[in-house]
Amino acid sequence: MKHPDEFGLAGGFKDAPLAQEISDNSRRMSTVRNTVLPRPTQTRVITVSNQKGGVGKTTTAVNLAVALAEKGMEVLVVDLDPQGNASTALGIEHRIGVKSIYEVMTQNIPLAEVVQVSPESPRLRCAPATILLADAELELVSLLAREHRLKNALAAYISTVSIKPDYIFIDCPPSLGLLTVNAFTAATEVLIPIQCEYYALEGLSQLKRSIDMIRGALNPTLALSTILLTMYDSRTKLNQAVVEDVRTHFPTQTLNTLIPRQIGVAEAPSYGQTVITYDRSSNGAISYMEAAIEIANKGVVNG
Ligand SMILES: Nc1ncnc2c1ncn2[C@@H]1O[C@H](COP(=O)(O)OP(=O)(O)OP(=O)(O)O)[C@@H](O)[C@H]1O
Ligand SMILES: [Mg+2]
Repeated sequence: MKHPDEFGLAGGFKDAPLAQEISDNSRRMSTVRNTVLPRPTQTRVITVSNQKGGVGKTTTAVNLAVALAEKGMEVLVVDLDPQGNASTALGIEHRIGVKSIYEVMTQNIPLAEVVQVSPESPRLRCAPATILLADAELELVSLLAREHRLKNALAAYISTVSIKPDYIFIDCPPSLGLLTVNAFTAATEVLIPIQCEYYALEGLSQLKRSIDMIRGALNPTLALSTILLTMYDSRTKLNQAVVEDVRTHFPTQTLNTLIPRQIGVAEAPSYGQTVITYDRSSNGAISYMEAAIEIANKGVVNG
């Protein structure tokens, strides 16, 4: 066996950044493993929304869902984005012809008929989105109770299925159209992922206004419960400044956990996986587990 000095690392192998990270990660993993989560008394319906594209909505929805399922929770993911990225990441079939959330929203098909179990976890289910959902924004306009269709579908699902979900995550498209309005109306909470970049807070006041509007007109108890900072790179000063800025504006909602920018997080969906099953000892996977634990322990904070 090599002596640490033979690796040519100042201070010896154990002090090298990589060795430090490995030891930190194994300590964090053991904390995650030993944590027991409280089960919510009622289903928490969490809408993951931000009208900005590519900020980590889908990645956050699917990874938190798997994390909570791994900790013993029953979880349902509703893919409400015609891109179908959440379905892909959870290994759920969503080609045209597969019964999907589109039929639930526009044709009153029971949600239970379209839900599939994800290969990621036996406790994780997903209502897939097919590309047909792109037509729903227009079709919904002329339908009765057009803002309440998802809420009604979820209520019927929860009251009829034998295994009631503890958590439902709704993955929204990057827009504030009728699909997102349905998600806000159906939800008990909103989770906003924010990418740690220069324009991070831009558009957030518009999103807050939309949430306030929904609260006034359609869903009085809707809470902006959680903000999660994503794609964080500790080496850039700008990222650190964004974190401080967001924490100043949203002190109670912002999670302590930061999701690092990491290649495995982006690679996992092409294997029909989340980073939690793709590379469970990675920083990204552990961070999503830690974020899920924070959310479970925090309950709802009104904002
Ligand atoms: N922590 C991360 N590290 C590296 N890449 C990431 C991370 N989080 C997300 N990504 C990648 O960034 C891109 C955008 O992420 P994602 O699809 O989750 O965003 P989104 O907000 O759902 O996008 P859209 O608005 O199109 O729905 C994806 O390619 C994803 O794999
Ligand atoms: Mg998405």
